[in-house]
Amino acid sequence: MNFQLTEEHLMIQQAARDFAQNELLPGVIDRDTHEKFPAEQIKKMGELGFMGMMVDPKYGGAGLDTISYVLAMEEISKVDASASVCMSVNNSLVCWGLEKFGTEEQKQKYLVPLAKGEIIGAFCLSEPEAGSDATSQKTTAIDMGDYYLLNGTKNWITNGSSASVYLVMAQTHPEKGHRGINCLIVERGMEGFVVGKKEEKMGIRGSDTHSLMFTDVKVPKQNRIGEDGFGFKFAMKTLSGGRIGIAAQALGIASGAYELALKYSKERKAFGKEIYKHQAVAFKLADMATEIEAARLMTLRAAWLKDQGLPFDKESAMAKLFASEVAMKTTIEAVQIHGGYGYVKEFHVERLMRDAKITQIYEGTSEIQRIVISRAILDQQ
Ligand code: CAA
Ligand code: FAD
Repeated sequence: MNFQLTEEHLMIQQAARDFAQNELLPGVIDRDTHEKFPAEQIKKMGELGFMGMMVDPKYGGAGLDTISYVLAMEEISKVDASASVCMSVNNSLVCWGLEKFGTEEQKQKYLVPLAKGEIIGAFCLSEPEAGSDATSQKTTAIDMGDYYLLNGTKNWITNGSSASVYLVMAQTHPEKGHRGINCLIVERGMEGFVVGKKEEKMGIRGSDTHSLMFTDVKVPKQNRIGEDGFGFKFAMKTLSGGRIGIAAQALGIASGAYELALKYSKERKAFGKEIYKHQAVAFKLADMATEIEAARLMTLRAAWLKDQGLPFDKESAMAKLFASEVAMKTTIEAVQIHGGYGYVKEFHVERLMRDAKITQIYEGTSEIQRIVISRAILDQQ
């Protein structure tokens, strides 16, 4: 067992840390307040290789491992979780699936620009009536011979208005249940595809979350990923890896809030001494540090298992469940340690607290992670 990061890992971590501090921190409060998508910053992240980190260089990616991706996600998320969710969706929900299951033609046409960060991707599973209960897809993709006729509505789609490529799950054979679902690559601008309203959110307010409407959109047959009926399996396999990315995001939100709270506790004085010298504050910091360390180890282990080609579905669900609960708890305590200053925007921790909440909801709620974990542990008996 080796807990040592390599030189390359440390370099990537430092590069992401520098980028977050120099490029994301300066405008982050303004983007949160005015719900501005970090377009310029995402473009630079693409140029630095952060948008296709695990993709083979022959398809325009950085060719790195999942551990590198976790380290970079943590650093970006410490500062701007709106930028990191865009990064996470592009890397683990869009590029990964295309590289693993796409045809060579699909890879050349879509994966290469996505991995280079020239364009952004979106992953479209959720619907108004199918969130956790993802098999009950109402969007239909009728087989018309050489194309599918796509009709329906998708909800809550991250990168909804900034993406150019959308992986859309839709039902082709309702009689087959989830085995009748397909995943289609839909391009922005296809006739009948409309980006709906932007959601006004509690947190990750810089991320553009939209509903999408499809009315008789003709999607060429060659845009289907995998065999007929592979769409639901595709979504589940992709989400297993995606949950490592969200665990890393939650870890970053937690460690960002912890670092701010630690620093503040050494600066702020009350009752004649720095507040960290009050044991109640020191113990909060001790709990935060301990739980963050546990979340980091779980997330890195899930990443390591994935890199080794070993099963990781249970471990990614565990990491996502645990890290998101740690993010929520840690950010609440970080606000508490800041006192009244924690409640105002300038000190960042109130934003991190609002951002933390989403990590317990998307890519499978905490309840859904418990379903995945309990099924896995019970199956092992
Ligand atoms: N890998 C491969 N196949 C899998 C799988 C996995 N990890 N998990 C399930 N499957 C397969 C099952 O084997 C089954 O197929 P077969 O019948 O052919 O064997 C099929 O999927 C259906 O599985 P279940 O019978 O277990 O289905 P279920 O209805 O009981 O529930 C669920 C499954 C785990 C709850 C699933 O619906 C789920 O994960 N729901 C949450 C959806 C979710 O995470 N959405 C996230 C949207 S993306 C997002 O949120 C992005 C973002 O915010 C940034
Ligand atoms: P529901 O499924 O209606 O759940 C409501 C409550 O019931 C939850 O607490 C849930 O845990 C609980 N519940 C449901 N079923 C069970 C059960 N069997 N046992 C116990 N409890 C249960 N989706 C995408 O496809 N792509 C995206 O890019 C994307 N981005 C998102 C970005 C944001 C900001 C948000 C808010 C959502 C995003 N989503 C995306 C959707 C997200 O994945 C869903 O919101 C999530 O899966 C929950 O679905 P739901 O909202 O329909 O809640």
